[in-house]
Amino acid sequence: MRLAALFVIALVCPAMADEPVVPLAALPLSMESVASTAEIELGRALFFDPVLSATKMTSCASCHLPQLGWADGRETGKGFTVLTRNTPTILNTAFNTDGVMFWDNRERTLEAQVLHPIRARDEMRGDACEEGKVVELIVQRVQAIERYRTAMGGTVTMPKIAHAIADFERSLVTPDTPFDRFMRGDKSALTPHQQRGMKAFEESGCMRCHGGPMLSDYKLHVIAAPGERQAFRTPSLRNLRHTAPYMHNGRLRTLDEVLLFYEQLMDEVSETIEGGDAAAQPPLDPLLKHLSVKPGDFLDLKAFIESLSADRYDQRVPALPNSKP
Ligand code: HEC
Ligand code: HEC
Repeated sequence: MRLAALFVIALVCPAMADEPVVPLAALPLSMESVASTAEIELGRALFFDPVLSATKMTSCASCHLPQLGWADGRETGKGFTVLTRNTPTILNTAFNTDGVMFWDNRERTLEAQVLHPIRARDEMRGDACEEGKVVELIVQRVQAIERYRTAMGGTVTMPKIAHAIADFERSLVTPDTPFDRFMRGDKSALTPHQQRGMKAFEESGCMRCHGGPMLSDYKLHVIAAPGERQAFRTPSLRNLRHTAPYMHNGRLRTLDEVLLFYEQLMDEVSETIEGGDAAAQPPLDPLLKHLSVKPGDFLDLKAFIESLSADRYDQRVPALPNSKP
């Protein structure tokens, strides 16, 4: 009986068959738990210090550059070799739902993320040290630097290093964009053009995945952007002004290219999801059947997305202790 009723509701109102759309919202202006300035500045120094790479040549900031929205402006990252994925920003990673990290959500916290680039040959380790020994090597080196040793209470450990870096990353937030001010009630914060764009965004089906305060559900979806056809995480749409190019491999260089991609995707959606063409695997995400993107809305949509970028954000570069003890 109940099932039958649900079925009828789903027929009458197809939207109810999927997960509810999460409304757009501002980010909180203050964080629940804020680390002390000393902890944040310790993490900032470690983030910029090449002492964390076995070769002493690469730091986290080699790929996450403050002036490029804490990304790198490249299609895909470059360490010892060119990587396969686009470097995401670390701005607002404090708000990644459930702490999921990377384009495929394979890690769960900012703290756990830190170990990946340190251990990866192609990112920070190079050929200077075996993977199994690199953590020990880095801890010893950081321990030998008085400023770090003192800041960590006399004993340096990898969890302390990771925690400090994560605290620094959590301090990089942009909760005061024009969009946030508008959502908090300042109706003059968005231009009429941007407000039309917000309406178009709501009506184009984008919010099926790009909803909530980060404009992301942080879930994996197959949308078949050019490149590998596999499920990637919905990226946040915040600060895109600073972080082009776009998608998991940086193949789309501008927002125009992204919007054109979605417009053309609608044809593929109607062939594969509704027409039953199962040739392309994995299949497209069924949520894409709600897409309704019109070229006439591109300018408005871009104006709205622009309102999600911060004009100013923390780009401070620290003074490093002597990193060659
Ligand atoms: C050689 C370039 C490079 C270096 C060095 C590097 N990163 Fe990254 N970073 C990337 C790339 C590329 C990704 C995406 C990888 C993926 O999704 O598979 C990434 C992803 C991340 C993410 C995940 C963000 C999100 O929202 O999913 C965080 C956080 C991060 N890096 C922090 C760091 C820290 C901390 C360091 C130093 C310990 C560091 N990175 C060093 C290129 C780099
Ligand atoms: C089915 C879920 C879904 C829908 C609906 C959707 N997106 Fe996306 N979006 C994604 C995923 C997943 C990616 C990353 C894909 C990749 O990297 O290959 C993405 C990437 C993007 C990017 C690139 C961001 C970056 O940092 O690289 C933009 C911009 C974007 N989407 C805007 C939109 C707009 C505008 C709409 C509506 C017209 C929309 N999306 C609809 C899931 C979705």
